[in-house]
Amino acid sequence: MNIGVFDSGLGGLTVLKELTRAFPEYHYIYLGDTARNPYGTRSKETITQYVREAASFFFEQKNCELVIVACNTASADALRAVQQTYLPTLASPTKRILGVLIPTAEAAVAATKNKRIGIIATRGTVSSAAYLREIGKLDPKISVYQKATPLLVPLIEEGWATRPETRSILKKYLRSLKDAAIDTLILGCTHYPILEKDVRRIMGKQVQIITSAAATHGRLDDYLMRHPDLANTLSTEGGVEYFTTDDPTRFSDLGKRVFHGNMGTVHRVELA
Ligand code: DGL
Repeated sequence: MNIGVFDSGLGGLTVLKELTRAFPEYHYIYLGDTARNPYGTRSKETITQYVREAASFFFEQKNCELVIVACNTASADALRAVQQTYLPTLASPTKRILGVLIPTAEAAVAATKNKRIGIIATRGTVSSAAYLREIGKLDPKISVYQKATPLLVPLIEEGWATRPETRSILKKYLRSLKDAAIDTLILGCTHYPILEKDVRRIMGKQVQIITSAAATHGRLDDYLMRHPDLANTLSTEGGVEYFTTDDPTRFSDLGKRVFHGNMGTVHRVELA
């Protein structure tokens, strides 16, 4: 059985990279829904439908036992609905879908000392208030400061991550979070680890940076230990198969150039 990793596009490669580094023995199926992204500006209903279709691809066609929704926007908006309405329709009760949002929130709560956490994310993730809810459940005394940063995904995908224009936009976006004296900042979008160095430079050494990529693999380790029934079903042949809903050439070019993912053949798939 395989592990599925799902993202609206290429950003989830940052999560896949950490997973393959931490657990090289497992076999991964990566799917980027590049034909329908960005998800960050879509409604909750639409994203839920897309995630449901992706889940069906992983579980019903690709022999997955576990699916990780690497996309923050999809984790925020659709995960619970798909867990509650889609998983029970499958014959196997051991199949699971996990998101990145809760592990990321937990990592941030564990890291903060002054109880002031900042988040940068897509508009969809920010307006869902999912991080506010999850952090509030873990520690209601923590103050959370969110900032929607919708220009960052297109700039990164354009290969502009290291341009001075991007740095100056990032600086503007981060100003209110700097003023809020946060000591922990969540990079609440799969793409943002690409900008991590600049974020660190702008925020200063005293601010800890939390990425979904790092938070998720730590949590998966723990999860698989607690669920040996699931862990025992996973194939240990290693390797990754890549799928996209749009042009495979563009996917692998951008994947190599921007996300440093070294892919073999990328397959095109239609979700419905
Ligand atoms: N991958 C999405 C996320 O983590 C961002 C890209 C998009 O808007 O589709 O939030």
